[in-house]
Formats: sequence, C-alpha cells, structure tokens
Amino acid sequence: MVTWSAPGRVTLVGEHVDYNGGPVLPFAIDRRTQVTIRRRADLRVIVTSQGVGTAEISSPLCPGSDSGWERYVAGALWAFSVGARRDVDGLDIDIASALPTGAGLSSSAAIECAVLCALNDLSGVDLTPRQIADLALRAEREYVGVPCGPMDQYAVMLAEVGHALCLDSGSLDTEQVPLHLDAAGLTLLVVNTRVRHALGDGAYGDRRTACEQAAAMLGADSLRDVTVDRVLGLPDPVLRRRAHHVVTEIARVRKVVRLLRSGRPGEIGALLTASHRSLSDDFEVSCAELDTVVEAALAAGALGARMTGAGFGGSAIVLCRSAESAVVADRVFETFETSGFREPDVWPAGPAAGARRQTR
Ligand code: GLA
Repeated sequence: MVTWSAPGRVTLVGEHVDYNGGPVLPFAIDRRTQVTIRRRADLRVIVTSQGVGTAEISSPLCPGSDSGWERYVAGALWAFSVGARRDVDGLDIDIASALPTGAGLSSSAAIECAVLCALNDLSGVDLTPRQIADLALRAEREYVGVPCGPMDQYAVMLAEVGHALCLDSGSLDTEQVPLHLDAAGLTLLVVNTRVRHALGDGAYGDRRTACEQAAAMLGADSLRDVTVDRVLGLPDPVLRRRAHHVVTEIARVRKVVRLLRSGRPGEIGALLTASHRSLSDDFEVSCAELDTVVEAALAAGALGARMTGAGFGGSAIVLCRSAESAVVADRVFETFETSGFREPDVWPAGPAAGARRQTR
C-alpha cells in the first residue's frame, strides 16, 4: 500500500499562455488530494472518492470510455500503462481531497499526478517527476480530452515551498522563483466564487484555436514570438483581442519574474490587475463574480487581484498587505452578498510543496 498527495495550484500570472509556448508562473497551494493504492487479488480496479462515491474502472482502458469523476483516475491508469508499459489490473484506489473541483485550482491535475505517483511507487518503475507530469498531461489531453497546456501538471509535480515555478511552456525549462509573501508583510487570498467551470465544454478549446489561427495568420509557429505591433495589425477583431491578451500576458510574466527575483513581491500588484483586465476584456474568460472579487478587493485597498486558472467561473487571487487582509476579505463577502451571489470561500495561500509521498 502506498499513499501520495498532490496539491492544487494557482497561477500567479501567465494565464492562457501555456498552450502558446510562453512562460507561466503558477505555485502550489496547501490544499491537496491524497491517493492510497493497494493491490487486489482479482483484476478489478475499484476507486472510492470520499464524499463522492465508488466506481469501477472499465477494462480495457480506452480514451473517452469513462465520463464520470473517475475518468481522471482512469486517464492516469491509461497513461501509466501506455507510458510505463505496465499492466495496472487489480487495485483499490482511495481518494480524499481537500481541493474543490471545478474551482480553477487544478483538481484534475492533482488527482492525475497523485494516482501516477502512487502507481509509480507501488510498481517500482522509478519515473521522474517530469516524466510523471508528462504522463498526467497525456491523461488530461488524450484520455479526458481537454486540449490543455503543461502548466498545471508541471506545477503540481515540480512546485517547491516558498517559490513560484516559472515554466517555459515551449522548452519546458523551469526556474524556482522565490515568493516570500510573509516576510514582505503580504497575504495572498484565494477566493473561490463557487461558480463551477468546466473545461470540456468547448470555450477553452475555442480560445486555443483562436490563438493558433492568429499565430498562423502572422506566419508564426506560436504567439510566443510575436510582437504587440504585429498583433495590432491582425484584421479580425476577435483574433486581435485574443492574441493581444497572450502577448501582453507574456510581457507581464517576465516583469513579475524580474520583480520577484529581486525580492520585490510588493510591487507586482498592478501587473496582476492588468492581467485580470486583459483576461476579462481581450480574452473574455472572466465572469461577473470574478470581476466583482477584483473590483471589491481593489476598492478595499488590495495591491492587485485577478482571476486564476482557465476562467469561466472558478477562483480569483487577491494580493494585499497582511494588515489589511481581513478588511479586504470582508469587502469581498459584503459585495457578494449585496450582488446576490453565493457566499465565496476565501482563504490565505502561500507557495506549498508539489506531489509527495505521505508517511503512514
Ligand atoms: C487550465 C489548463 C492549463 C492552462 C490554464 C489557463 O488550467 O489546464 O493548461 O491553460 O487553464 O492558463
């Protein structure tokens, strides 16, 4: 029997950039998904998720054949069998998660990575964290069917305490960038709006297609290498806005990384807010609740705020001085109440560890 846990992530900045070859800057949060795997005497694979239910994984594993919550587990099993060339028959898999699903906090990558880590350990295969991230990515793309970039799986596997992970999503090079919020008197709040997002519903894929079309019209392999001036010359207004978000977001990531490297986390707020406005206006993936978090937090004195994750609901992050975090959180709660929105879930988050083995 082995037990592994994997964290959720927030994107500090660099949203909808990872399928355009640019740099992204996520960090892991201390809400985790724990997976325990035991061998069974028969060939069945039974998955139990606390508070959700029990399911049997269909055999043989076949992309597209599972549609419920268990498809993330099935996808990880499939990726392991394909990538590590090992049979995965005869397992009991228990899942306990403190990570809300559909909240833009990467619960799917957490479950895929935790299952893969546990299988790797149980089978003695010795895959590296990067190999596991790549297999988790295959599970999400090829089995679950979401055309995502590599950010979530790499963040979940490679994140380190006290650091954001700068991932070059083209080369997959990584750099651990110090993010010491406490020492700078800063607090980063996560605000889960409880508006559930679903990436499988097509809007995510549409954004990706638009970016690819814009790059193709500009004669580029990806938007990573395109300048703002060239983007502004695109004749189609929708493609122009989508591409404008991506190239300006890449510039924001680079600026935030420079500020963090020189120990100035208190100066990144305006860049986070600019990222949100770009996602809302140009990329059109925000929603009323996410915009409300940002405007309410800024009105109460936050240094910066933005939606995090793919959007269409989910969560926002708010950077504020620690002394003001209670006032900022209260303003978000009040504004949600007066707007008739569901009460959000708000908590402080700092950069946490990536996937790890749990001691018994
Ligand atoms: C989802 C995807 C990621 C990334 C983000 C948006 O989380 O899984 O690959 O594209 O959306 O930045």
